[in-house]
Amino acid sequence: MSSTTELELLRPDDWHVHLRDGALLGAVVNHTARQFARAIVMPNLKPPVTTVAAARAYRDRILAAVDPALGFTPLMTAYLTDDTDPNELALGRREGVFTAAKLYPANATTNSAAGVTDVRRLDRALERMQELGLPLLVHGEVVDAGVDVFDREAVFLERVLAPTVARFPGLRVVVEHITTRQAVDFVTAAGPNVGATITPHHLEINRNAMFEGGLRPHFYCLPVAKREEHRLALRRAATSGDPKFFLGTDSAPHRVPDKESACGCAGIWNAPVALESYAKTFEEENALDRLEAFASVHGPRFYGLPVNGARVRLVREPSRVPERVATPAGELVPFHAGRELGWRFSGPVP
Ligand code: NCD
Ligand code: ZN
Repeated sequence: MSSTTELELLRPDDWHVHLRDGALLGAVVNHTARQFARAIVMPNLKPPVTTVAAARAYRDRILAAVDPALGFTPLMTAYLTDDTDPNELALGRREGVFTAAKLYPANATTNSAAGVTDVRRLDRALERMQELGLPLLVHGEVVDAGVDVFDREAVFLERVLAPTVARFPGLRVVVEHITTRQAVDFVTAAGPNVGATITPHHLEINRNAMFEGGLRPHFYCLPVAKREEHRLALRRAATSGDPKFFLGTDSAPHRVPDKESACGCAGIWNAPVALESYAKTFEEENALDRLEAFASVHGPRFYGLPVNGARVRLVREPSRVPERVATPAGELVPFHAGRELGWRFSGPVP
């Protein structure tokens, strides 16, 4: 372990985040904006963000809720449905509203009921996205009740994504929040137009975390954490320096009563400690020198956007993560709640 006491990085971006809406948006957005210059904002609101007008209005609500001093730019996404009009995607691209479009298999996760029932229904949309260079972001899980929950990502890659990538070889695809060795292998073997985001929590926990001494709903997210061998594969991928793998927190806040419930919501709220958590992982893997590429360079390169000019700093300083965070929208439990982290995000480099 090195004796580094400070870490300076080009300001990172979050390539996958749920900022919610209304009071919850106000409660969470500055946690993301404090650390990240830009974020790919997921469109799974109720109702979902399916049109250019809805995305523009949502972007305005985000900008109204965020502290302007933080200098944060939300990048908006379209929620794909069976009826997505390719012209709407083209319009959103042309008007600088849509940075990407998100495929939720219908009923795979939170607010995905309006998602896609069969990927073949997207053929026209995907063809147009391929032409436009509009990236397809994928929640990669089958919803087939006959497939074990822990196998749903691997089966999706084989049954759905591999044939789709073969049909649209020029389409840019991000396999979001990968959780398995199979996903690492799939992305590694695919062309340079296929990338993946990796969350802080899938680098830190395996599925045992959900059952340690009892049922632990705050470690439940989708795709669900897998066995240790998969966590280790994700850690190797994230710290490998391979530009296909980049930072995407999948920070997904739900109020405490919605998590601690007979039918608890999926999602881990990691925004308050995102960079600290990644720094922990990278340090443990002796790869702190590769954190900047993963957090600040690979994502913009994949999206064809400039890397950020400003720099941020983390300092080596133990800090305890609160058990709960009270917000005007209700209590939230952050990732690493009650634990001590060795790095603290201290803000922009003056
Ligand atoms: C996300 C949410 O709550 O919106 N939940 C999660 O567990 N990651 C949806 C998602 O990304 O699957
Ligand atoms: Zn997500």
